[in-house]
Amino acid sequence: MKFSLKAVVLTAFAASTALAAPVVEKRDANSDRIAACFVGLLFTGSWPGSCKAAISVDLGLIRSIAINQMTMDFTTANPWAPTMASNSVVATMLSIPGITLPIDSVRQHVIIIDNGVQLGAFDTPWSAASVKGGTMKTAFTTSTLNVFPDAKTAFSSFVGSLSTKASHPVTLKGAVDAKLNLGIFGHLTIPGIGFKAVVPIKGLGGLKNQKYVFAIEIYTGPNNKTSMTSILNINNPSQLSLTLGDVNFDSTHNGAHIGISTVKGLKLVPGDNQVLSYTFLDMSLDAARAFSDGLYTSDQVMGIGGYASSSTNPALNAGLAAVKSSVTVPMNFQGLHMSQAPYKAWSLKISTARVATATATFQSPYYGIPYEFTASNPPGFINQVQAGPGISSDATDKQIWKFKDGLKFKVSGTGTTTVSFEVDIPKTTSALQAKAFTDMLNYSKANGGTFPVLIDWQPTIIVNGDGTERLVDWTSLGNSLGYINLTIGDDFANIITK
Ligand SMILES: *[C@@H]1O[C@H](CO)[C@@H](O)[C@H](O)[C@H]1NC(C)=O
Ligand SMILES: *[C@@H]1O[C@H](CO)[C@@H](O)[C@H](O)[C@H]1NC(C)=O
Ligand SMILES: *[C@@H]1O[C@H](CO)[C@@H](O)[C@H](O)[C@H]1NC(C)=O
Repeated sequence: MKFSLKAVVLTAFAASTALAAPVVEKRDANSDRIAACFVGLLFTGSWPGSCKAAISVDLGLIRSIAINQMTMDFTTANPWAPTMASNSVVATMLSIPGITLPIDSVRQHVIIIDNGVQLGAFDTPWSAASVKGGTMKTAFTTSTLNVFPDAKTAFSSFVGSLSTKASHPVTLKGAVDAKLNLGIFGHLTIPGIGFKAVVPIKGLGGLKNQKYVFAIEIYTGPNNKTSMTSILNINNPSQLSLTLGDVNFDSTHNGAHIGISTVKGLKLVPGDNQVLSYTFLDMSLDAARAFSDGLYTSDQVMGIGGYASSSTNPALNAGLAAVKSSVTVPMNFQGLHMSQAPYKAWSLKISTARVATATATFQSPYYGIPYEFTASNPPGFINQVQAGPGISSDATDKQIWKFKDGLKFKVSGTGTTTVSFEVDIPKTTSALQAKAFTDMLNYSKANGGTFPVLIDWQPTIIVNGDGTERLVDWTSLGNSLGYINLTIGDDFANIITK
């Protein structure tokens, strides 16, 4: 059976008129031709040359495009060939009444235009697509954006606009090849569906919304170098997921340079990002000393700005140089807290030979940043566990054990590691200590086998595999972790020397 193309189109249009479709679309002759072409394709499986021409125009089948998410990786070997991907591209198509185009996959050939300058082009691989009414949803996996050789400056300023503006319109122009499932006519590829659309892209807004989250270590080093290893929260208000590599920021106080802050392997996803920041303060500078001294008495604002060589990637530097932001470091680093306690589920076993073995489950208190535990008893601090209050009112010495050297383990950012390790219990116990230990045992028996303890611990760890051992405050009091339950059994009585 052969359809009359014209009759089908007229019928379709008549049907839409009959339904009094409220969508008023200004149709030009070519739009009608495109509609007719697709209707014809569905009913006859044929795609004449006139249709090829009709769909190739800029404003043809595709009327507008929205990119709801985009990933860009600027750490490629060639800085002028970053990669892009998107898990949500929505195209609004010319509405063809009564017809849903059976497009099931597309690939795109796109030129990015900013301020009238063609910046570069990318070709996406074939990607699944779905159409509902006049809306097509698709995505594309990693595709290389080749910046045109004469468009490097324009591309840098495009990156600058995305970095600093709340929103930036970019023009996408090109062609889509679509595969249609035509049922009895089989699968057909319609190449060269033209488009040109202004797509608003939400930018980083200068990364204005930054917060000082936690100080992992403040180290006053020799040669006027003080390092602050901190967790910052950088809020990314855009829909862009960016891989930027190592980025350095100029740190300032009241506008004066005080040092450099580095974020290694900076990745920003939409929303909040907790990143590890290494700030080296140059304490030979008055401004750096003013900042550091000021922290004893009040909150201090640290300016964070990009500069001409913020990154090793020349395509990024212009954009980064435009970023001017700041964080407020609270007085004495007060009011900051770990994302979770560094340890939990403590228990202690003591053999008849008085060998004491503690077991605990460790996790990252650093907002998903992994660490490696390197030393459990560094000098300069009494690393110990003591009984909490209310257990033995007359005891003056409530120490249960001291940590020994030799404990090593690793914890992923989100996982846990349970470790058993030997600890030092007192060599001899006085009568008063013996009474206190008995009180602890009695207390635990009346309280589900546990009693509260205080953990005084400043171990060393390496965070995020950066190779530097850092002395960290894991005291339960210093981190407002409250009392920690220690689980014991009857063998706890072995702690008392006879
Ligand atoms: C540290 O900086 C101060 C002030 O600039 C300077 O006087 C001092 O010599 C410096 N110390 C070292 C070890 O460089
Ligand atoms: C601990 O409990 C035992 C038996 O339950 C009791 O004999 C002992 O007096 C208690 N010791 C203290 C110090 O309360
Ligand atoms: C500690 O133990 C007490 C008594 O068994 C219990 O009430 C409390 O919930 C425990 N705390 C934690 C953090 O597990």
